[in-house]
Amino acid sequence: MGASQIQHTCVFGLGWGDEGKGKVVDLLCPLFEAVVRFNGGANAGHTVCVGEEAFAMHLLPTGIIHAEVTSVIGPGVVADPIGLIDEIDRLAARGVDVAGRLKVSDRAHLVLRYHKLEDQLCEKALGAEVRIGTTSRGIGPCYADKMRRTTAVRFADLIHDADLEKRVRWITSARVAALRAMFGPGAELDEDGVVSDLRTARARLARFVCDTTSYLQDAMKCGRPVLFEGANGLLLDVDHGTYPFVTSSSTGPHGIGAGAGVSPALVTKLIGTTKAYSTRVGSGPFMTELADATGDRIRRAGNEYGTTTGRPRRCGWFDSVACRYSARFSGATDIAMMHLDTLSGFDEVGICVAYRLDGDEITAPPACARLAGRIDPVIEMQPGWHEPIRGVRRFEDLPTAARSYVERIETLVGVPVALIGVGPDRSETLVRGPLKNVIDIPASSAA
Ligand code: GDP
Ligand code: IMO
Ligand code: MG
Repeated sequence: MGASQIQHTCVFGLGWGDEGKGKVVDLLCPLFEAVVRFNGGANAGHTVCVGEEAFAMHLLPTGIIHAEVTSVIGPGVVADPIGLIDEIDRLAARGVDVAGRLKVSDRAHLVLRYHKLEDQLCEKALGAEVRIGTTSRGIGPCYADKMRRTTAVRFADLIHDADLEKRVRWITSARVAALRAMFGPGAELDEDGVVSDLRTARARLARFVCDTTSYLQDAMKCGRPVLFEGANGLLLDVDHGTYPFVTSSSTGPHGIGAGAGVSPALVTKLIGTTKAYSTRVGSGPFMTELADATGDRIRRAGNEYGTTTGRPRRCGWFDSVACRYSARFSGATDIAMMHLDTLSGFDEVGICVAYRLDGDEITAPPACARLAGRIDPVIEMQPGWHEPIRGVRRFEDLPTAARSYVERIETLVGVPVALIGVGPDRSETLVRGPLKNVIDIPASSAA
């Protein structure tokens, strides 16, 4: 298939993150000229399993492990430069050289030490009821500085602003004073450390900094296909998620315009990723949560521990109401459903088909988190299957109950399930429908 036939594509999460986006992006990478991160920062943890090897990307696009693909960190990303350098060095130690293949937008913002300190202090100070349970990566405070403008630092400043160190010393001391007033002792930061981070960042990262917007616009205009890698998930979206228990960016295709500087109308293949059940890390409403032995069993079977923080993930049944909501507002054209294998062995598996709130049925998650916390999910139990399915490679070869489960979700959500994950490895994937002619699933894994 020629490059011109591949549509510009976005892979994004339909849930609260960790849906398996890294695996889906990795499978698609060979078809694309470039893979672009357009939102979030090192709060993301995208895992790719290749045979015995596992890679976890936080700031680098997943394309980085593909030698032929250009990886772009777009203007909408908030990047911790020291974390980025660490990620680059860790990959280099494993034989992956990013030189010549990584582009960092001169418009992207820097996450600095005081952002992480504020994130941590704020979470510590809040009561369990209102704490967001952030990843402590400084994401919210950095986006807040971006909107405030006068206290923001971008990669362009790192390269061109001769007075940056002076300005950052001022920002650091003002921020520490403000944090001390709010949180008391513990708000300590070494100004010299922040400046030394800037120097390290300049020395190591300047070579990657460029105008990624023009690069992407030119590539897309010439028909060279581009893949956009969403971070986090739509239920964590700052406008449309379970606010305030969300992250601070636009996490789906609607974030591409602002976060990458290209027209989202050009991106026509929109692959919403979900698990065959639901998970969430951090606080906030979780309508189908199973805080019981069944939830524990899903956690064990799916190895549900955070890629970024190692925290145990909360687990629950598939929520077709939330998934339909995410699919509709993002315009998802396809669903990639990962972790179907995790449900093997259950006598019955549940799907939430409706929400009840104070006796009435509602069709979407409510705006108010307090109301969302009171939702009574209507669960439809489906027959389970006992056969292990990791070796299955065609949809027709899945147990009947597994096929019916996928088809029921497809009907409830209203979007075709085009990819199905039956194991963590990139080879453990089934392709259905038109994507069959586009994606090559490796017979067995090779780096
Ligand atoms: P992301 O943030 O959306 O990229 O997802 P994460 O990488 O944080 O979490 C997904 C986890 O599920 C990773 O450990 C993947 O290796 C694993 N995974 C992905 N797809 C499958 C699948 O189909 N089956 C199983 N068992 N594991 C999967
Ligand atoms: P990927 O890309 C899962 C969650 C945090 C917290 C909330 C706000 O791997 O799917 P933040 O640090 O962004 O201020 O935290 O959002 N969160 C994620 N949960 N996967 C992610 O990314 C997440 N990114 C943020 O746990 O509840
Ligand atoms: Mg993740």
